[in-house]
Amino acid sequence: MALHRLDSITVGVPDVAATTVFYEDFGLNPSSDGWFSTTEGGNQLRLVTSASRRLVEACFAADDLDDIGRMRARLAERGFAAAIDGADLVTADPGTHTPIRIAARPRLQQQPYSAPAVNGPGRVDRVNARAAGILVESPVRPRRLGHFVLGTTDFDQSRQFFVDGLGLKVSDIVKDVGVFLRCSTDHHNVLVQRSPVPFLHHSSWQVDDVDAIGRGAMAVLERHPERHMWGLGRHYAGSNFFWYFRDPAGNYAEYHSDMDSIPEDAIWAPEVLEGALGLYRWGPPPPPSFINPEDLADLMIHGHSA
Ligand SMILES: [Fe+2]
Repeated sequence: MALHRLDSITVGVPDVAATTVFYEDFGLNPSSDGWFSTTEGGNQLRLVTSASRRLVEACFAADDLDDIGRMRARLAERGFAAAIDGADLVTADPGTHTPIRIAARPRLQQQPYSAPAVNGPGRVDRVNARAAGILVESPVRPRRLGHFVLGTTDFDQSRQFFVDGLGLKVSDIVKDVGVFLRCSTDHHNVLVQRSPVPFLHHSSWQVDDVDAIGRGAMAVLERHPERHMWGLGRHYAGSNFFWYFRDPAGNYAEYHSDMDSIPEDAIWAPEVLEGALGLYRWGPPPPPSFINPEDLADLMIHGHSA
């Protein structure tokens, strides 16, 4: 496969300073020039100034310059414009006009997660000891970026670009809503969904487990309960636990853990999900503003511009 992971996203926001505080509380580490790093994925979020919030660019990783050359030819064959920018290839999703960068990056080797001992009915793996999840003191730091969700006014064009153009695989379909796509073993790296305006719905960040999601949520919400969006819950598509928060610009940020992994394309059978399963398996009812963020009307007027 030409692409092997989602490398980074660049997000435009009106107030970079306020939004920086949010992502610091979320556990990302500010580095330089507006970049934030994860513990294993390096620089994966960049904040830049923009009149209204928007996804300025998404970057996917290819193995090497040969792969980038092959991607350039592939896009040209399929009628998608792409240009060389230094060592990278830059193209755009024609459905949203979002620039998409392809860069040569090493594959990510993650430090293996060691699952703590868990007790259950008829099975006691932890005796005479408190659970690891209540003893850990260190702040939660996302290990890496997992996916982003892009609302598009031209769903067919966007799907065609990501699937036929970039070669992402379909993992699941939400009937009349969108399509979960992957370029790595993650169940999804991109969700493209129908929307009245092109916009970034959320970015999602991998943490160790459900305890890390809960502890991270505490840190995000401690002085800002208004940041809570939706959680704790578990999705059907991807199986992951989730908790969503709202950044000061209106973008949502998700912690996820225990997501489905699909190393062998032939073995996974995509499903067409309908109704609530497209959203979640369990959790509190999703707030209406999760599905239709309150600023969508504003974004339609002031739009998808710098
Ligand atoms: Fe998500």
